[in-house]
Amino acid sequence: MRSRVAGTGSCLPARVVTNDELARSVDTSDAWIAARTGIRQRHVAADDETTSDLALAASREALAAAGLASSDVDLIVVATTTPDMIFPSTACILQAKLGARGGPAFDVQAVCAGFVYALAIADGMVRSGAVRNALVVGAEIYSRILDWRDRGTCVLFGDGAGAVVLLPAQEGGVLATKLYADGHHKDILCVPGSVRSGAVSGSPFVHMDGGHVFKFAVKVLADAAEATLAEATLPASAVDWLVPHQANLRIMDATARRLHLPPERMVVTVDRHANTSAASIPLALDCAVRDGRVRAGHHVMMVGVGGGFTWGAALVRWG
Ligand code: UT7
Repeated sequence: MRSRVAGTGSCLPARVVTNDELARSVDTSDAWIAARTGIRQRHVAADDETTSDLALAASREALAAAGLASSDVDLIVVATTTPDMIFPSTACILQAKLGARGGPAFDVQAVCAGFVYALAIADGMVRSGAVRNALVVGAEIYSRILDWRDRGTCVLFGDGAGAVVLLPAQEGGVLATKLYADGHHKDILCVPGSVRSGAVSGSPFVHMDGGHVFKFAVKVLADAAEATLAEATLPASAVDWLVPHQANLRIMDATARRLHLPPERMVVTVDRHANTSAASIPLALDCAVRDGRVRAGHHVMMVGVGGGFTWGAALVRWG
């Protein structure tokens, strides 16, 4: 038994913040942000929007595309670093909003690699027969953990959610997944704060050593994709669509180059969405599915990397 992606969906908050708008409040420019990252704009959630609200809208689209009723959803896995609350999980909150009950529901905290982690876990549970189907979501409201005075981080991130539905299949579908972590790099990308005695202890904002993250990401994204292809016994040339974590166009281009894939086979949404962490891969995937680029029989390679450090890849044959 395998699992296949039967439907995709996404949700972006209505408010768009352009680079020019950011440059009015912090010492930066559209030219710098676009040249160094490829980002032109990002979506930012309204004060009363929650991560589970974005997850719900993306999930409804994915469920409609898969022809699965919300009440029939079994497993729910939400990859997020910006949950609605410390507990219960955003997945449990989403389950209630969907009107589903009884199936397992939990969050995965693997930062920007979260969606690939969640997909691999859900694939394993569908394949083993432990669950009938799975809703896998990446959802984030990073705007709430950014220091909007820090130009080194606030220009990079955005809010949004993407979702996929996995159904059992006899062939094709998720061909191989690979997950990795190295906690020795925990300090180069982190939100170090924690809640203690009713107050935040330590910084509640994203801290990043950008250069270190950049070099690490370029190396491990291509390595993870190559290991996943080896497991599926396919060459890199078999990849029809590379859907990398949308952190920085230069990191993404370097990954495609290392895999010898032409840039036109890479799905790019970082210009419009910025880095939406765990949501970036399913958001990009949904774009490419809905505009007809990803078609039955295509091989789709998803690769993610994030704080922890965590990284991984998933190779899917569409249809
Ligand atoms: O999901 C994973 C999350 N994070 C990432 O993927 C980020 C990975 N890293 C990066 O994307 C890049 O390292 C950045 C985009 C963060 C930075 O690009 P860079 O080419 O590595 O620039 P830099 O950090 O070497 O900074 C170059 C200059 C510095 O000025 P000085 O010291 O040369 O005078 C920075 O202070 O650019 C300055 N700078 C900015 N200038 C205008 C840094 N941020 C900005 C900014 N606007 N927003």
